[in-house]
Amino acid sequence: MARIVEAPKRGFERIGAHSHIKGLGLRDGKALRIADGLVGQVEAREAAGIVVSMVREGKMAGRGILLVGPPGTGKTAIAIAIAKELGKDTPFVALSGSEVYSAEMKKSEVLMQAMRRAIGVRIREYRKVYEGMVVDLDVQMTRHPYNPYQQVPKSAKITLKTRDEQKTLRTDETVAIELINKGVGLGDVIWIDAETGRVAKLGRCIEAPREEVYDIEAEEKVPLPQGPILKDKEFVHTVTLHDLDVMQARSSGGLFSLLFGGGETREISNEVRQRVDGLVREWVDEGRAEIIPGVLFIDDVHMLDIEAFSFLSRAMESELAPIIILATNRGLTRIRGTDIESPHGIPLDLLDRLLIIRTRPYTEDEIKEIIKIRAREEKVALSDEALEYLTKLGAMHSLRYAVQLLTPAFEVARKEGRDRVMVTDVERVKGLFVDVTQSVRYLKEYEEQFLK
Ligand SMILES: Nc1ncnc2c1ncn2[C@@H]1O[C@H](COP(=O)(O)OP(=O)(O)OP(=O)(O)O)[C@@H](O)[C@H]1O
Ligand SMILES: [Mg+2]
Repeated sequence: MARIVEAPKRGFERIGAHSHIKGLGLRDGKALRIADGLVGQVEAREAAGIVVSMVREGKMAGRGILLVGPPGTGKTAIAIAIAKELGKDTPFVALSGSEVYSAEMKKSEVLMQAMRRAIGVRIREYRKVYEGMVVDLDVQMTRHPYNPYQQVPKSAKITLKTRDEQKTLRTDETVAIELINKGVGLGDVIWIDAETGRVAKLGRCIEAPREEVYDIEAEEKVPLPQGPILKDKEFVHTVTLHDLDVMQARSSGGLFSLLFGGGETREISNEVRQRVDGLVREWVDEGRAEIIPGVLFIDDVHMLDIEAFSFLSRAMESELAPIIILATNRGLTRIRGTDIESPHGIPLDLLDRLLIIRTRPYTEDEIKEIIKIRAREEKVALSDEALEYLTKLGAMHSLRYAVQLLTPAFEVARKEGRDRVMVTDVERVKGLFVDVTQSVRYLKEYEEQFLK
């Protein structure tokens, strides 16, 4: 039976710096030294691979992952690789700890919405449709009721054909308008929803008679359907709990809310969420829907405060909770909003439920490989000496600093009329842009001068 799968909306944009990462680069659970855009960091990648299997097998419920390691050692990169491995159908939502402090929403609301975005609901629906290749089409037009100069479709007569049957249908204006809007022509394979009159064009039929093919566009070629014209077709939609919350909130708020609802940034009431949970449970019991727990990734988790942490702990207990992946580069530090010191600034009760994965500082060789990958990604050509020099800078300052210098160095090279970055270009931008340690030291010296 034909299926139409709609990809869920994905929830992360902060991948500019990580666009080279395509996956964890594992084979049979073992990390290849360089693969899928990732270099080294073997143990962390293999641990992440196990997490991916556990998520797929539904064995991660109620647990979380914590990625710890010094700045620039690939914590965010590995979380993104996990998302890539999980594939399109598993929701992945990324949030930075500081994002919970929003002016428009309570902290708990930001977290709640993020959690519900990270849970997918695959809804299965059977609908009666007329499906076949168009062999005859006649649309009757009439004058527009309010604009006499305009013609609008009034009705249509359409003949559909499958391998086993041919049928002529008379349709009302809803279908006629749809047929015109979708640009349906002879030789197209289409379906018409028997109830709503919605029309979908699947593509051009491979077996369409030659003279009926007018335009040679890059349209998808589809086979001539089999069986009866009127059939039950299975549709699969994947939405998130948050999508359903928004829809429910709009529909229960009446016309005003539909018009002025504003959608995403609005707070959603508890009743709405309970109603959605109830509906989803019903659908699951009836076999019409399936829940796909996704991943909520919270970067710089030490930015969360005690209230946000307790909300998170409680939410992890609930039946409909995503898998939570946290990352931090802090060691022993104060939990925000308290005077309590705790490992990674995370309360102990939450820490107890986390599997911890550590990322290690890179060797010069690994830094070099990462710079090479980023240079390719940013389409920057490097001379061997420039690559060596950038590698030294990466080891001495930070990987991120070295990577950030790539594009400015390329700009300088181009101004000099070259399309390859030389050592002098890197030296030039190194003098112009400083790394964070330098910028902090600079201001500190300045402050000290002031105090004298
Ligand atoms: N093993 C790796 N292979 C390829 N690229 C990597 C690897 N590790 C890090 N990178 C890249 O290096 C840059 C810095 O890494 P990333 O942002 O993941 O570090 P981080 O550990 O999250 O740092 P922070 O603690 O500052 O958040 C990113 O562009 C990332 O994609
Ligand atoms: Mg990070």
